[in-house]
Amino acid sequence: MARTTLTRFLIEQQRLANALPAELRLLIETVARACKTISHSVSKGALGEVLGSLDSENVQGEVQKKLDVIANELLLDANEWGGHLAAMASEEMETIHRIPNRYPKGEYLLLFDPIDGSSNIDVDLSVGTIFSVLKAPDECAGREVTEEDFLQNGRAQVAAGYAIYGPQTLLVLSVGTGVHEFTLDREVGSWVMTDRDMKMPQGKCEFAINMSNRRQWSPGVARYIEERVMGAEGPCGVDYNMRWTASMVADVHRILKRGGIFMYPADHRTPGKARLRLMYEANPMSYLIEQAGGAATDGFIPIMDVDATSLHQRVGVVLGDKAEVAMVTAYGKE
Ligand code: F6P
Ligand code: MN
Repeated sequence: MARTTLTRFLIEQQRLANALPAELRLLIETVARACKTISHSVSKGALGEVLGSLDSENVQGEVQKKLDVIANELLLDANEWGGHLAAMASEEMETIHRIPNRYPKGEYLLLFDPIDGSSNIDVDLSVGTIFSVLKAPDECAGREVTEEDFLQNGRAQVAAGYAIYGPQTLLVLSVGTGVHEFTLDREVGSWVMTDRDMKMPQGKCEFAINMSNRRQWSPGVARYIEERVMGAEGPCGVDYNMRWTASMVADVHRILKRGGIFMYPADHRTPGKARLRLMYEANPMSYLIEQAGGAATDGFIPIMDVDATSLHQRVGVVLGDKAEVAMVTAYGKE
């Protein structure tokens, strides 16, 4: 049987579901192509002199890894000239990147985390690229795009996905018609579909949380985890397993394939203090998880309903298994 490549899948989506305007198809192909190049850089490691940190910090005050900057530049360069975008925003840039005047402009806004989980690069664990696509508001035609134009909630996303640079390089994508996985065939250089219409398994007893933050959890989160750690002897009556990769892409991908729940709750002692970023981490992952039959909240309301107030806004994240997410949310309300 003929293999379904990413290009073929996107063209079929354009024809069958009529879900995919040509410009959006071009955008996704361009991001996917950039991810191939990033994958190549990541896999060269020390031989490509891409490991280690720079002297710089990003807007979040995090030390930038060399690969953070390389991947950011690759995504900007790849997406600048195609005519499909109005502007871009990235974890690695304080403010938005407008398309230079020498290029035509399109109607989409692209947001990305160029290398998610970058603390893992130097120790050869999985990292990834997360992206989210919004439509530029109609009223910004004919004027300069502003940061406010990006501040739409997650429900407004028209596509989202991630690439994961692990033992295999994968692209996991949704344009609103289910979630699909493509594996990079390095010999041919193309993305080949390896999982269609992914549905995350429900009822699996596995959680992912950084336990070292225990003192910052709300009583609801602490109770939820405590009950799971008690296993068969506790109120759950069953043993739970725990995994924490410290790369959101890797943890979310595992949950998509194998089930369970991922949590990076907000610090309940400090209002507004959380780790993960709404616009280019939590929203795209929530879009994928909901499309795959799971749920995603900030501990209280669906993440995609959270109002966007700034580009680098942080948010608590509880996502994965529907019943487990509902339980955390219920405990939080008690
Ligand atoms: O992008 C932030 C991130 O690297 C996520 O990929 C990951 O889930 C989290 O931070 C890990 O945080 P910590 O180092 O606190 O476990
Ligand atoms: Mn990240």
